[in-house]
Amino acid sequence: MQPVVYLDYNATTPHDPEVLDAMRPFLETEFGNPSSSHQYGEAPRRAVAAARARVAELMECAPEEVIFTSGGTESNNHAIKGAVMSGSSRGKHIITSQVEHPSVLEVFRFLERQGFEATYLPVTETGRVSPDRLESEILPDTILISVMHANNEVGTVQPIESIAAVAEKHGIFMHTDAAQSAGKIRTNAGMPGLSFMSIAGHKMYAPKGIGALYIRGGIETEPFCHGAGQEGGRRAGTENVAMIAALGKACEIARRDFDENSGRMRRLRDRLESAILADIAGAVVNGHPAHRLPNTLSISFPGLAANQILENIQDRVAASAGAACHSDTVSVSHVLRAMGLDENRAGGTLRLTTGRMNTEAEIDRAAAAIKAAVESLQSGH
Ligand SMILES: Cc1ncc(COP(=O)(O)O)c(C=O)c1O
Repeated sequence: MQPVVYLDYNATTPHDPEVLDAMRPFLETEFGNPSSSHQYGEAPRRAVAAARARVAELMECAPEEVIFTSGGTESNNHAIKGAVMSGSSRGKHIITSQVEHPSVLEVFRFLERQGFEATYLPVTETGRVSPDRLESEILPDTILISVMHANNEVGTVQPIESIAAVAEKHGIFMHTDAAQSAGKIRTNAGMPGLSFMSIAGHKMYAPKGIGALYIRGGIETEPFCHGAGQEGGRRAGTENVAMIAALGKACEIARRDFDENSGRMRRLRDRLESAILADIAGAVVNGHPAHRLPNTLSISFPGLAANQILENIQDRVAASAGAACHSDTVSVSHVLRAMGLDENRAGGTLRLTTGRMNTEAEIDRAAAAIKAAVESLQSGH
């Protein structure tokens, strides 16, 4: 039996061996507290500083503008809650899009329960927010815009520079969730108008439970965790040194091998897409044809149930569905719904995402397995 082909890199990535090597000293020998002034604190302190510099290089900002967090969810919570708490004297209106990750949408719903007013921007059929529409929704008391950089389900990349320019013009905080884009496309936190950017380690070959948040220099927000003064007083708690070293190495590799890795993901994704489209009549690709992450293929087989396809291929391919099906009811993902896909198409949607460790042979095996499964389900066997 050949190993199951992993095509779920947007869910999480395997650990890069170089990343594991970078963490190891802080799990084995270098146990010191980075805040200790004696000799045991030295190596951990240096490691945290070096990692911050590597993350800042990938995010194109200054090291002092980066804080370490427990991942994408915490970074999103920190940015959004921090921004509204410090901006609440100026207004109560906040704006996001309908296709955000739950770690943004659920924060917005929580804030609505606290008395904030939220606007959820619609998207086009390719999943993009319109900067003009965004501008038309701005009110005198709007204090925050949060629009993701790239979508986790369909890979659509937002016109983030134009959105940040609108935020800058109106003097509004702007946050972007770059958990899916970091390491796949350029992430320039320093672009004009952007106040906060979130990234997550486990989407870029570091372990789960580590992430970072860019906070533009000069922005004061309420600390996310109150306590001692770590992370410039913004996020108290003794640093998770091994994980921080891991994220630093992951960012260094992402930058160093950017062209090779993004080229590889794209080649393999395109090979998979072409093979499926050539072999399966009626298959349709979702997302933006040009503004799309290089590794993401969201593809629909109208009339079929994605979970049945996944069940059929589970001993050969690991991927995700674009909708969750429970016996005879289908709950279509909020992203596909916002893009206007009907249930027939949304219900038969697979998310196939490639990464650094995939090979051409794996892609060919996966395409053959998907084709066989779809044919068998279409013919009712
Ligand atoms: C776009 C996006 N934002 C945020 C997150 C959450 O990141 P984490 O799992 O590190 O909390 C994810 C993870 O699925 C994601 O895809």
